[in-house]
Amino acid sequence: MIKLPDIQEPRRVFFGDEEQDFINNCIQELKIGQLNDIQLVSDFESQFAEFIKVKHVVATNSATSGLQIALQASGLKRGQEVIVTPYTFSATAHAIINAGGVPVFADIREDSLCLDFDDVESKITDKTFAIMAVHIGGKSENIYDLCVLAKQKNVLVFEDAAQAHGSTYRNQYVGTFGQAGVFSFGTKLMTSFKGGAIVTNNDEIAKICRSYIYHGISSNGQSPYTHEYPGYNFQMTGLQAALLIPQIKKLPERFEKRYQNGMYLKDKIEQILGLKVAMPTNGGTSNFYMFEMLYDKLYFSGKSRENLIKLLQKEGLPVLQANIIDRPIYENHSLRSYITKPCFVAESVYNRLIILGHYMHSTLMDADQETLDLTAKKLKRAQDLIKTA
Ligand SMILES: Cc1ncc(COP(=O)(O)O)c(C=O)c1O
Repeated sequence: MIKLPDIQEPRRVFFGDEEQDFINNCIQELKIGQLNDIQLVSDFESQFAEFIKVKHVVATNSATSGLQIALQASGLKRGQEVIVTPYTFSATAHAIINAGGVPVFADIREDSLCLDFDDVESKITDKTFAIMAVHIGGKSENIYDLCVLAKQKNVLVFEDAAQAHGSTYRNQYVGTFGQAGVFSFGTKLMTSFKGGAIVTNNDEIAKICRSYIYHGISSNGQSPYTHEYPGYNFQMTGLQAALLIPQIKKLPERFEKRYQNGMYLKDKIEQILGLKVAMPTNGGTSNFYMFEMLYDKLYFSGKSRENLIKLLQKEGLPVLQANIIDRPIYENHSLRSYITKPCFVAESVYNRLIILGHYMHSTLMDADQETLDLTAKKLKRAQDLIKTA
């Protein structure tokens, strides 16, 4: 049994001997001035592309920049709308704004905490450029239906797969369905501490993204410094790529363990009345980057979320009071002016949300069954304690 992750501990990342050897080699090469930065990034891109089965991967310095560039490279015009969930990290909507677009918030479903298809449909107008599907918590969105809808309405689909490494929908990796998908390599299932990747099957978009992330330089120019676009400096470094390369082939095993553990824990937890675990859309999987549960106050003596979380923490469970998504993102100052209509489900969810084994401390999903049993037992004990308090 592993020790339950301590929520106060610093972020954990998972590196093994292989990553260490790879990095040691890079440091040796650095010492003798032979580290080929560009080659390392290119190797990462081709190996990740082969792994998730897309034509192109463009490595970036973050998912936030990747999302912005993917939208810009696809021709988003100033003032055009992108439909997005309020149940995500603010970076998703900030990227839309920084690309010149207007985020339009559509509500979510209680069962998956992903976009509500009908609400998305109702928000499509002639100003809509795209739907931004977010595989939040690592749970697959209803991505197939969203792509069909987008095609009918002649809008594009982008995927924020920042948290969803290894997750699939109908056996296809998420991030690979729409015009482009974006992964983050912050403190995620694959990590270089910071970093991101745009994935796409579209040759032209890949080419423009590649130019945008490096000062808008075009490979078609006669001189290596022909600038086609007012670009950025959003490239990934070779050392980040070196950290990521050995993690690609470890992902399936890690995913599988987390998926099995997540499903096991869900079954255990749902034996406790008043707890419901958020699950991916039918046909999809989840890496349980966040293990999200909604609790019904009726079964927890009407306790507020704050009080319940305090009690769970006292029981030694890894739950955080505040978290990167602890309110609909449109309540942030940066996004307030974009609310047109409140998203009632999203707003109600936040008062009942418990995230277990928070993403920064996600060892819980890598634990053994004994630890998971103990976790469920502690939850039940917390419920009993509340009832007798
Ligand atoms: C859903 C989501 N989108 C976007 C981002 C931004 O990723 P990055 O930190 O790589 O810019 C994050 C980061 O955690 C995220 O969780």
